[in-house]
Amino acid sequence: MADVEPGVVRATTATRFSSNNIRPDPELYVWEAAVWQPPSFGPYYSKQTYLFPMTPFSLAEKFSLIHEHWRPKVVAELNGQELKLVKFSGCFPWHHHETEDELFLVWRGAMTLEFRDRKVRLEAGQACVVPRGVEHRTLAESEAEVLIFEPGATRNTGNVVDDQFTAPNGARI
Ligand code: NI
Repeated sequence: MADVEPGVVRATTATRFSSNNIRPDPELYVWEAAVWQPPSFGPYYSKQTYLFPMTPFSLAEKFSLIHEHWRPKVVAELNGQELKLVKFSGCFPWHHHETEDELFLVWRGAMTLEFRDRKVRLEAGQACVVPRGVEHRTLAESEAEVLIFEPGATRNTGNVVDDQFTAPNGARI
């Protein structure tokens, strides 16, 4: 358990939960997930409610819950893919992903996707896919709000492990 960051869901779908720590509400499609908490909080697990299929959510509201840069938060998952929201500010390390393609879509602000041979500027409402294996880094002169769509468990720094920038997987809002 100690390898899990507080607040990070250990599993996120019904198939990955045992029957005693998740239960579906057939009326509301609300699922309760067990979330590991540090021992000082009392019980090791607390119940948190996450909204799953057929329940709308607001991207603006979700972004308002993010108070740190470069730490993606999962807001939806489907077909093994995750939709993550992240706030960018500054410059991210160079990296590539061996097996995952990544989609970046700017919701607010602007960002630059930098490749070794070119730069792609993305304004709000614009999107770009980075193919697997292609080295890249992301930059934002001022804070940008960005959606990322990629397979679950994709490490944000890809082939690189960075003390400052590598974020835990599975963090949800
Ligand atoms: Ni990447």
